[in-house]
Amino acid sequence: MAGPIVSRVSRVSGANGSSAAPIFVDVDTGVDDAMALAYLLASDDARIVGIASTAGNVPVDQVCANNLGLLALCGADVPVSRGSDRPLAAPLRTAEDTHGPEGLGYARLPSRDGTLTDYDAATAWVKAARDHPGELIGLVTGPLTNLALAMRIEPALPRLLRRLVVMGGAFDYRGNTTPVAEWNISVDPESGSEVFTVWSAAWGLDRPTHLPIVLGLNLTENIAMTPTILSRLAAAAGSATTPMSVLDDRGSRSAASNPLIRVLEDAMRFYFEFHFDQGEGYLAHLHDPLAAAVALDPDLVRYEQATIDVELTGTLTRGMTVADWRGHWGRQPNAHIGVGVDPEVFFDRFIARVGPYAATLG
Ligand code: BDR
Ligand code: CA
Repeated sequence: MAGPIVSRVSRVSGANGSSAAPIFVDVDTGVDDAMALAYLLASDDARIVGIASTAGNVPVDQVCANNLGLLALCGADVPVSRGSDRPLAAPLRTAEDTHGPEGLGYARLPSRDGTLTDYDAATAWVKAARDHPGELIGLVTGPLTNLALAMRIEPALPRLLRRLVVMGGAFDYRGNTTPVAEWNISVDPESGSEVFTVWSAAWGLDRPTHLPIVLGLNLTENIAMTPTILSRLAAAAGSATTPMSVLDDRGSRSAASNPLIRVLEDAMRFYFEFHFDQGEGYLAHLHDPLAAAVALDPDLVRYEQATIDVELTGTLTRGMTVADWRGHWGRQPNAHIGVGVDPEVFFDRFIARVGPYAATLG
């Protein structure tokens, strides 16, 4: 069979002609999830209609508290729903070593303000999709547990969404959780497998431009936040701050005058320290913000189509995402896999959006 197919991603506008696309976000907040939410809140072309909290980086109640706290800090009113407190079949693992004891590094958010919806995260997915048929963008930056549960409730969910973007997996690339598995998929491999399989079945022959966009570590590890870029963000927010350095005492708190920049800097410092300890340098990969930016503008990334599946039983490889680039399995492609990105374009856009937005909160 021929080599990889360069993907064409669906780019139809929202049916109501509005320039602010409705987006439903499923997160396990998490330092980079928080950065992704900040990006979406700062984006005039997006309207977050709901947030699903998924257990992952930290337990689900902490994810809920982080989402509510971030929204309170930003003065944003978005319904937040609590998801399942465990993966479909595996016991929950969390990543406080990576994201800090409460998931946001050294940052302290306003005390929990606001309440959760009286329906759960899977129901929230379904409600949002039914409320915006053909218009809703779905974004998942955590394990796929709640999306899988939502698709059990509403098998037509894939056809109701305009686009789905998933941060997950590692395609022909090393893992960050096991030698071969990426965190979001590794936490709940069964849900990853279920979503990728059921999604394409729901689309049948219509599917090529509606395949989920899947961004793995092979792509997202190109997006390396550094102290220099973070200083550019503070400057764009008009915020005084002290540039961070690898020589700073661990846990030094941000001197930023702007409240959002302060939280993001305190969160990022922990993430920098984690990456440094992993031998990656004093930097941090912004996996989830890239996925958020792609959800609003798929043209930021170059794709190839392939059939992907998740290894569920390997003794060494459970949670690995396998891409069949050459059609060995004889199955139709079921994903647009991100294979190329220009980090400078991403960071310019991130700063141009989040900087001025933060300034409005100062
Ligand atoms: C993913 O794992 C999480 O720790 C991050 O928030 C990101 O979604 C990267 O593997
Ligand atoms: Ca995440």
